[in-house]
Amino acid sequence: MAVKAAPSILSGDFSRMGEEVTRMERAGADMIHCDVMDGIFVPNLTFGHKMVADLRKYATTPLDVHLMIDRPERYLDRYVEAGADRLCFHVEATKTVLVNLERIRAAGLKAGIAICPETSAESIFDYLSYCDFVIVMGVHPGFSGQKYIPNTTNKLKALKKEIADRGLSVQLEMDGGANEANVAAIAAAGADVIVSGSCAFNTPTPEKVIATFQGRA
Ligand code: DX5
Ligand code: ZN
Repeated sequence: MAVKAAPSILSGDFSRMGEEVTRMERAGADMIHCDVMDGIFVPNLTFGHKMVADLRKYATTPLDVHLMIDRPERYLDRYVEAGADRLCFHVEATKTVLVNLERIRAAGLKAGIAICPETSAESIFDYLSYCDFVIVMGVHPGFSGQKYIPNTTNKLKALKKEIADRGLSVQLEMDGGANEANVAAIAAAGADVIVSGSCAFNTPTPEKVIATFQGRA
């Protein structure tokens, strides 16, 4: 199966985000990754549910919302109402992982959990049957343009094996530090979706980067 490319709007021009969505979709994006940060769970602030609702008017592909916020259960309904298609929160940020996943699924969205580089693959095995997707962070969450942490590839492999052994259908998404040089190894380790922030935006030819991420070039 071809890998899906999810450009992260975090690396876009915040003064014209709608156009940035269109630019990435014309370049072949499969979905648009939206990084929501609260300045507490991570040391950076980005945007909230109004941005997601406004981007929903521009996007023709799914909006993949990655919540990097403390106690995400306080805001899940806002992102459902905003029109997120895929909604993901960090296991490190909440005590109610299963309840949150069930709420997201009950609203008709794809539900996901994300894990920081310090969090092991094994620690989320019990949640897998409640997830539609898992985001494995390749960098410490908070900023785009960081260097990929190589041992996160092993976490992808461990999760891929567990998912296959149990016959589950959970997508694996790699987020952070992916580039044209390491994307083939990330895909080979089992990623179904790969996020591209700086790599897709900081180039005059995003269609080439996206094709590489999708394994077409
Ligand atoms: C980091 C974000 C990532 C980031 C990826 O906290 O979750 O989605 O935007 O950017 P790159 O691809 O530049 O690492
Ligand atoms: Zn992200």
